[in-house]
Amino acid sequence: LTATKTIVPLLDLKDQYASLREDLFAAAQRVLDSGRFILGDEGAQLEQEFAAAQGTQFCAGISSGTQALEVALEALGVGPGDEVAVPSFTFIATATAVSALGATPLFVDVHPNTLTLDAGDLKKRISAKTKAVIPVHLYGHPADMDGIMGVAHAAGLKVVEDCAQAHLTRSRGRAVGSIGDFGAFSFYPSKNLGAIGDAGALTSSDAALDEQARVIRNVGRSPGRQYEHVAIGRNYRLDEMQAAFLRVKLRHLEDWTNKRRAIADRYRTGLAGLPVRLPRADQEGDRSVYHLFTLQTDKRDALSEKLKGEGIGCAVYYPTPLHLQAAYRHLNGKPGDLPASERASREALSLPMFPELPLDKVDIVCSAVRDFYKTA
Ligand SMILES: Cc1ncc(COP(=O)(O)O)c(C=O)c1O
Repeated sequence: LTATKTIVPLLDLKDQYASLREDLFAAAQRVLDSGRFILGDEGAQLEQEFAAAQGTQFCAGISSGTQALEVALEALGVGPGDEVAVPSFTFIATATAVSALGATPLFVDVHPNTLTLDAGDLKKRISAKTKAVIPVHLYGHPADMDGIMGVAHAAGLKVVEDCAQAHLTRSRGRAVGSIGDFGAFSFYPSKNLGAIGDAGALTSSDAALDEQARVIRNVGRSPGRQYEHVAIGRNYRLDEMQAAFLRVKLRHLEDWTNKRRAIADRYRTGLAGLPVRLPRADQEGDRSVYHLFTLQTDKRDALSEKLKGEGIGCAVYYPTPLHLQAAYRHLNGKPGDLPASERASREALSLPMFPELPLDKVDIVCSAVRDFYKTA
């Protein structure tokens, strides 16, 4: 068996690093020289700069996206006995953050056109036990926030937007992370804005909630009083080194986002007319940031084999919906419960996508997909 040579990688962070190497080293040196490694100027600056870029009023740095979700739910009073509605088709952290608080995820289906939380299904499944909902802006596409906020208001649900894949996404002209009570962001290295390790943030438009999040992330510490603790908090702070690296990268995020969108356009042109379902194009006022470019096809596994055989990276995000994961067996989910999520898990395939991906490589991917359908 000979290893296939990679022609087009799914993701490659090396070019981006090379272009930022000097700035990142300078940032690291600044932090090392400062002698201040936790909750200093870098973190405070990043919070302001990210809020401004994202279009939200407040931002608090958190140690990861998963922990940002936990802090948000805790600040909103979610605890044991509560249910929190989450889409079944997402990364598992959306649900484990609920479980970490002793609450129970209520799995809801996605809409087949957007693969984000289906407001109609949400309305059907919630009960008096449901305290909150976490719409996920999956792949960088905005969830149906108008529909979801309508259901949430009517039922008195708190809303935490999972923005882990959606930096600079807009929904009907509004910044994601500013529509619900909180927006939880991940800066995991492969994300649209990625740290050099784990990192995250919580955005909000409510000063009291922002304050509450800051208390929880910092061991329940009363603002400005080192050993006065007003809550049983957690140690979920963002460190200065990651904040400094993120500030370097944040300056390029708008440009990187435009490059992702240009790549997505190229895919749309190159794949037009094939029997595949492409990501939904932006509706009025929306802005998708294409964390991933994901098509759907009933020949998914064969297409994936063929692309990998030709050295083209591709991957399935996510092959098992959460209601069928072993980790959630105790909730008794069964095949057939959430048909759109199950179908998405069978049919979704993500193609190479990162800002530095040259357009002629996108054309190579499109040709390979066209070849596949010629013979399939
Ligand atoms: C949709 C979604 N939610 C939550 C997370 C968790 O973020 P983190 O890895 O920073 O904990 C991720 C990414 O990993 C994600 O893709």
